[in-house]
Amino acid sequence: MKKRGEKIVSLTAYDASFAHILDKTGVEMVLVGDSLGMVVQGQSSTVPVTVEEMAYHSKIVSRGLERALLVTDLPFMSYPDPHTAVDNAAILMQQGYANMVKLEGGQKILDSVQHIVDQGIPVCGHLGLLPQSVNQLGGYRVQGKDDTQANIMIEDAKCLEQAGASAIVVECIPSSLAKRITASVSIPIIGIGAGVECDGQVLVSYDMLDITAGKRPNFSKDFMLEAGNVSAAVNAYVEAVKNKTFPAEEHSF
Ligand code: KIV
Ligand code: NA
Repeated sequence: MKKRGEKIVSLTAYDASFAHILDKTGVEMVLVGDSLGMVVQGQSSTVPVTVEEMAYHSKIVSRGLERALLVTDLPFMSYPDPHTAVDNAAILMQQGYANMVKLEGGQKILDSVQHIVDQGIPVCGHLGLLPQSVNQLGGYRVQGKDDTQANIMIEDAKCLEQAGASAIVVECIPSSLAKRITASVSIPIIGIGAGVECDGQVLVSYDMLDITAGKRPNFSKDFMLEAGNVSAAVNAYVEAVKNKTFPAEEHSF
């Protein structure tokens, strides 16, 4: 799809009913994000989420899917070293029926990425805003704004590709940097708050349906407003990503 210039559509799901709607609407990549800690569990960050919780939600999401690729997050502290990373990736694959696991970071976690890939488990990277590191970052802010940060991120993407990653999510970075990253690797770059020039887009489903408690991130869009029901809202999002009308300038940095 990257080679063909066809946009890849992704959304998060946390249960079978939502997963079924996304699957039948043509969402190609369904992500069981550790964002479930915030939007499902009502916690203030993703930090408290456990491997067992991720495996449970991944398992119930898998029952709603027929076509979509199921990607499941390795949560905070589940990949502190390559061996622990492989053990926990195995739990998400065997108990969560995931097709791919996602973990946050670049060059610092390359050993873990390589070990997981070596076991036959596909890996999705995650660069830019890393919510599991929010306590270090001091908040949810745009990342990669200066040249040094930007160049490190491009190098991170190349290293992840080299280590065997199959895709990379880039979160909350300037559109210009996302464009450079997308051009720097041959694996698909899936953006969230990263502009329209990525190979695909992902959003937290609860944000784009406007059912998240509190403030929705300003890179998201309420697709429920005009659509009126969940299937129609998901369909409008799929169409908007495919024809490159989402994200617009107002959803980008
Ligand atoms: O946890 C999540 O929902 C994610 C997406 C925002 C990419 O990691
Ligand atoms: Na996540």
